[in-house]
Parts: sequence; structure tokens; C-alpha cells
Amino acid sequence: MTETLMQKAYNEVKKYRNKVINDPYRLRYHLMAPVGLLNDPNGLIQFKGVYHVFYQWNPFETTHGAKFWGHYTSEDMVHWREDPIALAPSEWYDRNGCYSGSAVESNGKLYLFYTGNVKQEDGTRETYQCLAVSENGIDFEKLGPVLRLPEHYTSHFRDPKVWKKDDLWYMVVGAQTLEEKGTVALFHSKDLYHWEEAGRIAGSEMDGLKDFGYMWECPDLIHLNGKDVLLVSPQGLKPDGDFFQNLFQSGYFIGELDYKRMKFQHGAFAELDRGFDFYAPQTFRDESGRTILYGWMGITDELEAYQPTIVNRWVHALTIPRELELHDGKIFQKPVKELKKLRKNKVVVETNKFEAISAELSIDFEKVGPFKISFRNEAYLSFESDRLTLERRNLKSGNLESRTCKIASVSKLQIFMDHSSLEIFINEGEEIFTARYFPNLNDAMISIEGEAKIKVIKWNLGNDGE
Ligand code: FRU
Repeated sequence: MTETLMQKAYNEVKKYRNKVINDPYRLRYHLMAPVGLLNDPNGLIQFKGVYHVFYQWNPFETTHGAKFWGHYTSEDMVHWREDPIALAPSEWYDRNGCYSGSAVESNGKLYLFYTGNVKQEDGTRETYQCLAVSENGIDFEKLGPVLRLPEHYTSHFRDPKVWKKDDLWYMVVGAQTLEEKGTVALFHSKDLYHWEEAGRIAGSEMDGLKDFGYMWECPDLIHLNGKDVLLVSPQGLKPDGDFFQNLFQSGYFIGELDYKRMKFQHGAFAELDRGFDFYAPQTFRDESGRTILYGWMGITDELEAYQPTIVNRWVHALTIPRELELHDGKIFQKPVKELKKLRKNKVVVETNKFEAISAELSIDFEKVGPFKISFRNEAYLSFESDRLTLERRNLKSGNLESRTCKIASVSKLQIFMDHSSLEIFINEGEEIFTARYFPNLNDAMISIEGEAKIKVIKWNLGNDGE
């Protein structure tokens, strides 16, 4: 069955490859599915020197469905190979989707943990945390479920992230309690196959946190600058001023995980991105010790169906890789330095109008003041006293919509533009706005107005000789 399912997916790729790559909104240097829908980054790891990025993939439609794990590998996170499908939803325990999960190395082998999603005919859902293994990092053998659903959670229980500390393996799983509160469940294991439950480490209405959503997806527990940080994507938060403006959120709690008592003490939740299109991020630590994050540059909301790329049979992309640092109780994110390899044709911009489509803009402020940058007359970044706002056209209504964040001052902007995306890094990664946008194809105009005194450098970006 796996053979035929995989073959069907490859046929789909072949059939639509030209249509997809000729879409003018196709991105130039971001990871995308070759056809169909992409969502979460999965299984991030550097294994035997090679970077692996897997992703949630529905090859057959541009809607969500029985997900595969697509696979890319790279030596530098810039030049990527499209590898054979890693996992297909072919078995009784994953037939409605090989859902999100993570990768670890043990004894020279690459292990994938993922959620086997099963929907019964009566609509009930089953969830199995599954294991697959590979010697070469390319061909995977499924080993089946290694963890069943504990009875005190609903079947919204998924997205295992595994790590090692001293001699033990640990796993966090995104979960929902029987009272329908979002939470993170912790497990530990000596051998990757047998898992013991260690309770909940954080959740809605737990340890002083108020109502904080009905489901927490894609947890990730990392160690950063002496602290333990829980990244998680909660669903069900209500908008609160400038915060929680998207349908679902992604953010983090900084704290300390007491590995003896299996308790996590943490501070307040902070969002990782202030734009429109960012969800379900995952991190990994590479061989040089950097903690690197990829996010899904999209989100499951009602606008998904209005993405103009759907006519060309594809939708969504991953963000560029970002290196995480923790300073003064806050995560800073910076584009990884390898992305400098994409730079072509450096120009020191002397005018306030210039053209850019797939480009990096570096803007240094000698003197800050109110300003407004127009991106191809389709998205606008403006700064006024202590508020920075990104506007873009809503895909459904056609009206401008905005996201705002408070920021004391702006000293630097680093902006990654691709054919239909913007990633704006403010003050060396203090805040980030990520958004898809779909400008008129003939409009490449960037204009900067305002009182700020700035120095602008532009590079065209592309890794295909363009
Ligand atoms: C997050 C998510 C995960 C799930 C996957 C399914 O976007 O809903 O919780 O594993 O997507 O594709």
C-alpha cells in the first residue's frame, strides 16, 4: 500500500511540476511543497553533517487531509535537495495522516517520532505516537506506535518532540485535557521505545496561568542561555490589544524544568512573531551549537482557501531559518548567516524609491522618526512614536488589515522579500513580522517616506544564478 500511495504522490508531482514552478508567486529561496499543501516543519535535525527538513504535506489537494512527510536535505540551509517521501499515511495506525513530530539521532541512526492520526467512520479520532527509523537518513522503516493515548486526555494529543538529557530521553506532546484545556504532557524513556508518563508541565488554568486555550499544538522544549524554554502553539486565545490577533498563536514560556520532580516553572507567554502568517514552529540544535527555528509561513484560518497560488495547485511555504538567542528574558531571532550566500548585486540605495522583488534590504537608522515603507503598493510598514504597524490586503475582503507591535525605538530593519512573502526583522531580531502578500506582478516599487535618517543597502536574492 505504501508503494502505491507514494507512487500516486510522485505522479501528482510530475503532473503539476511545470504549472507549480511557473507560478509568478512561487518563492525563490523558501522551502515549499512541489505540489499541494504544506504546513508544519517536522523532524528538523542536522544528521551526520546534513541538514534535514521534513514537512507536513498533502500532495493531492491544496486543503488539509491525510498528511505525508515530505523531505529536503542540505549542507548549508541554502541549497536544497528534494528527497524521496519519508512517510506516507499507509498503515492502520496512521492512515488519516502522518502528523507532526520530530527527529533524533541514536547510535548513528535517524529516528522520527510522529503522530499517527486515525479517524473512524463515526467521526471519532484516534492518535498513536509512532516511531520510524533510518540508517541513511533517506529511507525510513516504520516501527509502529510506541505510545498510546493516556486516559486523562482527549484524542487531541499529538506532535511529539523528543530530546536527550544525560542518559534519558524526554518527549513533550501537545494535548487537551478532558475539561478541554490546552496542555503539554511530558514522558521519559531509556530506549526510545518504552515511554513513561511524567504528568503535565504547563497548560491552560495550570500553575497560575488563566484560561489559555482549548488545545496546545506543537510543543518544543529547548535549553537556551541557561534557561529552559517551552515553545508552543495554543489554540483558542482571544485577541488582547496588539496581541493574539491571528486565529492561532505561537509563542514561548521561559522557565526552568526540574528534571527530578518533572515540574516546569515558567513566566508569562510571549509571541514569537507579530505578523499574519506564522504557526507551528520547531527548533533544533545544529552541530555548531546554534538553536535554529523554522516556522510554517501560514496558518489554518479562513483565508487559506483564498490564496491565489491555489489555481496553480500549491499553497504555503516555510519561513527562512532563524537562529534563536535569549537576552534579558526575551527570545531574539536572526536569519542564519548562511543566507548571505543568496546575496547578489549589492546596491547602496540613494533614493527613496527603488525596485525590489526577491531581495534583502538592510536599513540602518541614523536618526529615527516616523516613516512608512510601501512594498510594491501591496503591504506597508509604518512607525509612529512607539508603534510599528504592518498592513497588507486581506485576501478575502480586499481591504487593508494590520498588525501592530509596541517598540521603544527602531535602530535597524533587516527585510527578506520573496515573490510573495515578507519577513521583517526589527532591531536585530527583537520583533519579527512575517506575512504573505500578493502584489500586482508588474509592480516592484519600494518607496520610503518620512523623517527618519536612514542608510539602505539592497541585495537581490536567489540561489539559481538569477
Ligand atoms: C499544526 C497541526 C498539528 C498537526 C498537523 C497536521 O498545524 O494541526 O497539530 O500534527 O498540523 O497537519
